[in-house]
Amino acid sequence: DPVYLNGRFLPLAEAGISPLDRGFLYGDGVYEVIPVYSRRAFRIDEHLQRLQATLDGIQMANPLSAEAWQAVVLKLIETAPWDDQSIYLQVTRGADDKRDHAFPPASVPPTAFAFSSPLVTTPAAVRAKGVAAITVPDLRWSRCDLKVVSLLANVLARQQAVAQGCAEALLIRDGLMKEGAASNIFIVKDGVLIAPPKTHLMLPGITYDVILELATAHQQPLAVREITETELRAADEVWMTSSTKEILAITTLDGNPIGNGRPGPYGEQMWQWYQDFKN
Ligand code: PDD
Repeated sequence: DPVYLNGRFLPLAEAGISPLDRGFLYGDGVYEVIPVYSRRAFRIDEHLQRLQATLDGIQMANPLSAEAWQAVVLKLIETAPWDDQSIYLQVTRGADDKRDHAFPPASVPPTAFAFSSPLVTTPAAVRAKGVAAITVPDLRWSRCDLKVVSLLANVLARQQAVAQGCAEALLIRDGLMKEGAASNIFIVKDGVLIAPPKTHLMLPGITYDVILELATAHQQPLAVREITETELRAADEVWMTSSTKEILAITTLDGNPIGNGRPGPYGEQMWQWYQDFKN
């Protein structure tokens, strides 16, 4: 299956970039992950808007217009063998002929890369049981609202979870739970869905927005406010959400059950609404 690199579609094995690429040297780049259902990209406009917002946030020009990105994504979707896909986009500040932290001259073109992989949905048996998570200190920088490829703190947090047989690490900063290593986190308490607010310390998830829309459309009690670590542990339900995981119940936290230790009814309802909505 061909991948997209700097204006061309070519086999992955032939897609090469310079070892001086600033994505490689500095993690100086941005990315997006777009889910595709039955060969239709889900919420692509919103993903491309977030890509633009992240590029603006790090003063990088977008190498492609929204229309051009749409065409790239469409072509990847058409040529991939899978109906349900995950499209990955990445833009870096390109490769200069010398290493310097400051931006390269304007003559250096950015690197733009995109490829498709199969969207692996969570097996029903895993969803029925829920997954385990741990809490870890949030060691990231202060612009977590930008979807940048400098992901070392997220990588180390997720690896710590996996090493303990868990699916996700929940990031705690100043006593507040911000999000997961690669997901947004919601809690339910006494029938109220609670979502952390969009600040510089959380990625504004596209799935997060869909869930707030669905809760509102179904007239569910909803609170968007900070969640303390104490509230997190006392929640009736905890969910992780992302473009690839959709909505997944966290039923164990640091070895202790959340609620009765089983996925709750609200999460199952929201998962069903999401299935109906995405198709
Ligand atoms: N991660 N928070 C973080 C830190 C994330 O990395 C992600 C997504 C989310 C959820 O955002 P969305 O609903 O737009 O997927 C929240 C992607 C899937 C990834 O890094 O692979």
